[in-house]
Amino acid sequence: MTLERLAVVGAGSMGAQIAQQAALGGIDVTLQDTSAEQLEKAAESNRGHLMRRVEKGKLAEGDAKAALGRVRMTTDLAEAARDSDFVIEAVFEDLGVKRSIFAELDRIAPANTLLASNSSTMGISKIADATSRPELCVNMHFFYPVLVMDLVEVVRGPNTSDETVERAMAMARAMGRTPVLINKEIDGFIVNRILHAATQEAYRLLDAGVAGFEDIDIAVEKGLNWPMGPFRLGDFSGLDVTYNARRHMFKTTGDERYRPSAQLEAKVKAGKLGRKTGEGWYKYE
Ligand SMILES: NC(=O)c1ccc[n+]([C@@H]2O[C@H](COP(=O)([O-])OP(=O)(O)OC[C@H]3O[C@@H](n4cnc5c(N)ncnc54)[C@H](O)[C@@H]3O)[C@@H](O)[C@H]2O)c1
Repeated sequence: MTLERLAVVGAGSMGAQIAQQAALGGIDVTLQDTSAEQLEKAAESNRGHLMRRVEKGKLAEGDAKAALGRVRMTTDLAEAARDSDFVIEAVFEDLGVKRSIFAELDRIAPANTLLASNSSTMGISKIADATSRPELCVNMHFFYPVLVMDLVEVVRGPNTSDETVERAMAMARAMGRTPVLINKEIDGFIVNRILHAATQEAYRLLDAGVAGFEDIDIAVEKGLNWPMGPFRLGDFSGLDVTYNARRHMFKTTGDERYRPSAQLEAKVKAGKLGRKTGEGWYKYE
């Protein structure tokens, strides 16, 4: 099978590593961002990750250099899309921005180019109708950090064709990632729904005074063998991320189960967002 040429739009925490992971799989990638500074940061960060693997003896130096060389950077969307068979969009979680990028990609990219979005919350049907090719549009939801996390949720919209689904699954595999197929657009897809359900229960236990957050984390880590309990994981991803995700789920479903916990809200309002601010549920050096 010939590898599809890939363009990744948005070089933030997700896009930079999606591009690098694809290049590790031997795929030629163009990484585009409107900010040249962001592209430089992405290149530097990816070099750091791959060189650490070389130092640890996990990756041959030649392979690291080849994978770094396979990612071309540009600020020009037309240049990125013109010669691509496959585009993965990973810009800010803003519907208007994503729709205008998809509309522009539709004008520039070849007629058979597949357009995927890495959105965590927007089903592809909200974006695909900004194009004339909704059958070629699909969600590919990667996990942070992409260079480490093996899973990709491929979510089909009502108009996504079988062939597009197969191409998205094949792209994920070519990148060395394991895809799962979700047949219906659903808020939170699979992983975040299960994570939300477990996290919500943890907050309910905390808010009801049943146990402290450390004991709930220990119970989940030792009893369910999860690498991190819900509070430690919240600190790791950012409590603002957890809080905003719950608010979004609560707003879109109206389901009381998703109402954000008062204690979580208090942490976010106090700017205690987890590791990145030095304190969340736990304190960090
Ligand atoms: N961070 C996560 O844990 C995570 C996990 C899964 C999915 N996602 C999804 O991935 C997407 C990106 O998230 P992120 O955390 O990487 O965001 P980020 O803020 O780190 O990066 C967004 C990038 O998009 C660029 N950008 C903005 N407008 C652009 C435009 N018009 N054209 C080109 N580039 C543009 C910005 O310069 C920035 O570099 C979002 O849809 C998010 O829901 C994030």
